[in-house]
Order: sequence, then structure tokens, then C-alpha cells
Amino acid sequence: MAKGTEMAELKVSKIKQGTVIDHIRAGMAPAVLKILGIDRGASDVVVVAMNVRSRELGRKDIVKVENRIIDEESLKKVAIIAPKATINLVKDYEIGEKHEISLPKELRGILKCPNRNCITNSPERVPTFFAHESAEPVEYRCHYCEELVEADHVELIL
Ligand code: CTP
Ligand code: ZN
Repeated sequence: MAKGTEMAELKVSKIKQGTVIDHIRAGMAPAVLKILGIDRGASDVVVVAMNVRSRELGRKDIVKVENRIIDEESLKKVAIIAPKATINLVKDYEIGEKHEISLPKELRGILKCPNRNCITNSPERVPTFFAHESAEPVEYRCHYCEELVEADHVELIL
């Protein structure tokens, strides 16, 4: 790792145990906090760094949550707004597992279809169902009305 990157990282304290979501696109940390439900307060330590220098991304955000393992459903939501994110599981100050996030092939009940005439927006309350279409930009297609949506611009059902 380049020395410069290391120095930048040191501005943010390490956690003892929990999950570090690294390589979040700059500016997206608040959305990640919302997905994790920590925007409404949390009892464990949460460390947020925004606009940290990153070699791959230019600038990035980092979210660290102590004593928490992020569930699959939340990870799917994080993936669509932060597709380059790395999930690091920390135990006793050491990184145990590290994995890259992957874009889910299907999203059920996660994205809201922007098409007002879509059956998922009708009073029948059909749960939304989107299929992955492209990675850059991250796009999904509604199974019902075939509307193509860009994940960054679409409302998440939280
Ligand atoms: N981290 C942390 N607490 C620890 C250990 C690591 O908060 N006890 C954080 C680091 O600050 C970093 C992330 O977890 O943001 C990943 O750590 P590490 O794998 O050591 O960094 P890199 O080698 O830069 O990771 P990558 O190769 O994924 O960029
Ligand atoms: Zn639709």
C-alpha cells in the first residue's frame, strides 16, 4: 500500500470487532447508514469517514460498525449503491474475512419502480421484482413493466 494512502487511513480509528465497509463511493456513506438503520441512532460505536483519499476511487467513504455483522438483505442494498465496496470482518483488531460485494442478480422488494403505472405501484401492492441488467452504470429492469432503472437514481424500499 502506498504510504500516502496509509496516512489517510490513520485519520480514522480502527475497530476492535465488527464490520468495515470500505471503498464506498464518495458521498454515499449517509445512504449506507440509512440502509443499516444507524441513521436513527445506534448503541454501538460507528465510525464514518467521508471523502478519504483512495487509489482506486479517487475519493471514498468508509463505514465501520462495531459488534455487528451485516445481514444479507442489507448487503444487497449496499451493493446497489456502493458496487465497489469491500466488506471486512474484524476480530480482535485484525481483518478476518474480506470480501468484495457483488451485485445481486435479482432484487425482490428492494427497489421501488419509478413507473407510476407499474403493477407494483397499484393498490394490489405486488412486491417489486427487478433483474440485474448492467454493472456500469448499475441498472436493473422491472420484471413487470420492463422499466430500466439506474440504481443511483431510484428509491430504495428501506
Ligand atoms: N480496519 C479497521 N479496524 C481494524 C482493521 C482494519 O477499521 N481493526 C479498516 C481499515 O482502516 C481499512 C479497512 O478496514 O479501511 C481494510 O483494512 P486493510 O485490509 O488493512 O486495508 P487495505 O489493505 O487498504 O484494504 P484493501 O486492500 O481492501 O484496500
Ligand atoms: Zn415496474
